[in-house]
Amino acid sequence: MGRGQPLTIRVPGDKSITQRALILGGLADGESRIRCILRGADPLATGRALRALGVEIVGIGGPGDEEVRIRGRGLRDWQEPEEALDLCNSGTGARLLAGALAAQPLTAVLKGDASLSGRPMRRVAEPLTRMGAAVDYLERDGHLPMRVTGGALSPLRHESAAASAQVKSAVLLAGVGAGVVVEVREPRRSRDHSERMLEAMGAGVVEGRVDGSWSVRIPSPPDRLEPLDMEVPGDFSSAAFVVAWAVLAGRRAPLTVRGVGLNGTRTGLLPVLARMGAEVGVTGRGTAGGEHTGDLRVAARAARLKAVEVGGDEIPGMIDEVPILAVLAARAEGVTRITGAAELRVKESDRLAALATNLRRVGVAAEELPDGLEIEGTQRPLSGFVRSFHDHRIAMAFGVLSATPGCDVPVDAPSVTEVSFPGFWELLGQLKDGGAGGGGGRVGASSAGGRGDRGDAGAGGCLVVAIDGSAGSGKSTTAVAVASRLGFRHLDSGAIYRAVTLQLLESGRSGALESVTPEELSDLAIDVRWRAGRMKVWCGGRAVPEEALRTERVTAMVSQVAAVPAVRAHLLELQRSAARGPGLVAEGRDMGTVVFPRADVKVFLDAHPEERARRRLLQRGIRPQASEIKAETARLTRRDRLDASRTIAPLLRAGDAELLDTTDLDPAAQTEAIVRRIRAVRGGRS
Ligand code: DC
Repeated sequence: MGRGQPLTIRVPGDKSITQRALILGGLADGESRIRCILRGADPLATGRALRALGVEIVGIGGPGDEEVRIRGRGLRDWQEPEEALDLCNSGTGARLLAGALAAQPLTAVLKGDASLSGRPMRRVAEPLTRMGAAVDYLERDGHLPMRVTGGALSPLRHESAAASAQVKSAVLLAGVGAGVVVEVREPRRSRDHSERMLEAMGAGVVEGRVDGSWSVRIPSPPDRLEPLDMEVPGDFSSAAFVVAWAVLAGRRAPLTVRGVGLNGTRTGLLPVLARMGAEVGVTGRGTAGGEHTGDLRVAARAARLKAVEVGGDEIPGMIDEVPILAVLAARAEGVTRITGAAELRVKESDRLAALATNLRRVGVAAEELPDGLEIEGTQRPLSGFVRSFHDHRIAMAFGVLSATPGCDVPVDAPSVTEVSFPGFWELLGQLKDGGAGGGGGRVGASSAGGRGDRGDAGAGGCLVVAIDGSAGSGKSTTAVAVASRLGFRHLDSGAIYRAVTLQLLESGRSGALESVTPEELSDLAIDVRWRAGRMKVWCGGRAVPEEALRTERVTAMVSQVAAVPAVRAHLLELQRSAARGPGLVAEGRDMGTVVFPRADVKVFLDAHPEERARRRLLQRGIRPQASEIKAETARLTRRDRLDASRTIAPLLRAGDAELLDTTDLDPAAQTEAIVRRIRAVRGGRS
């Protein structure tokens, strides 16, 4: 299993810092330049909201490490948005924007997905209304969707009941935006990224302990914020999953996670790991954008973990790490007790309930406390299907467990990890196999086993481009255009699955489609041929007409057929054999992950669900009205969930695939972005 080699990896940029850089960049006076941002679903949602408020952002949907430029509009010049701002799953985006909007002379509605709409907003709305903003809940009291009307505000000293960085940041942003003095007192110090960034932008922040609380004050709000020029450090919370995996897997050589943000309000897990007996050190210390950074190094050898007691002041500094701590505790000797963590009940899920449920499900004795957990560690093999509860950190914590020796714990809805750690599953797979090549925005500038050799990408120097993505993301149009621009072949893998479905439907066979055997599949004699780069599917020696592949009957059944393992296995070699000639543009759902894992260029297209719905309707010749868009969005989101959560070849972004957000791109711009990428790679190869 190749555990004998030292490994060095990187994790995607810090989510909290990325979100703040986008929002504060939008309030700055001039252009901010941010490198290494997290290109996860949460920051992309915040970016879309800022654009709707008139803030110009360049490069956010672009590939890999491209610099993002934010043209700030100054403190009080955002534009009134035409539609509700959809923050999807992002609590930070919604709450910090509420604060910033309170100072803008306009009205905006903030909304989110079902999970975000279940999270409390009153804690943010209440101080903002005391400052003079108007906040109305449009559906359910205290929850999104929520309308914020901002303007001139009064100064405020706010005593926050919870140690919440989002509440604190919202009030600070309102104060700075409106140019009034604000002070927030919190029971314990929460993460201070906003304070550091405001300082870096020229707003003086005074902080310290006052009457047993932690006080943060902006005594003289500035007239303007300087633009930012910074690199976002790797996310400590993402690194924590990799570190925990290395501790549990017991590698025979050290593993290093490079360039991680080490803000003292975030690294509370490190002393806890030390108490458990894990050897995790920090080397290569530095700073980036006012934040401390360093490399986390997990020593070789399997540590025998001991149970710990964690609570009180320790919790805010490791609030996001409690899920992974719970998993570590499940493999430690003795009973771990976590208290003072009631805040976890109002995160992306009720994390305390989710952790206890999942731990018990795989065979660990776990008790839920009102504000924490009691977990009895065990060395027994663990197995059982666990639920993510649509919470990225729950999914990743159990993903780590699933990748450790002696555990078999498949996780549902793996794609939820995209909000903070794109490429998580691929990285985990590579770590498990002993190498670390791809994974996530910045994962993978690594050691042995890394990408670089093209291996079996294509025969005889054929350059392979893998384009994956969800329905309506613009895949087909773009793939055809890219292939035609470069004179490459186009592989439409969806059409092949459709052809199999059509033949099975027409064969008059009895029995469920799922029970199809390899022999029956061979009998269908499915083949693909090309004329002038255009692919045609052939069955039993005859070309299948294009229209026959796109009937409602085939469309209704194809997902089911595509989920049959025998079908996928049967079509694998056929698809791979397409990689001949100068180049191939392979389009589908698993091109970059399964069919061509060593493709030269991997792109994953995505777009906002409403935009994808609009495109689908247009494709079908329906003029997209609001009600139809809503219904189609719901259908698409349901299908995405199914495609992403199926255990057989789920729709997942390969760790080393570049995410291209096509929401605001037309087909020509999408094609251009990919062609440029291919030319760069081709240039590098020749
Ligand atoms: O891209 P399309 O709509 O023509 O795809 C048809 C179906 O086939 C769709 O439900 C997803 C499935 N499919 C798949 O599972 N794997 C692929 N590589 C391509 C398509």
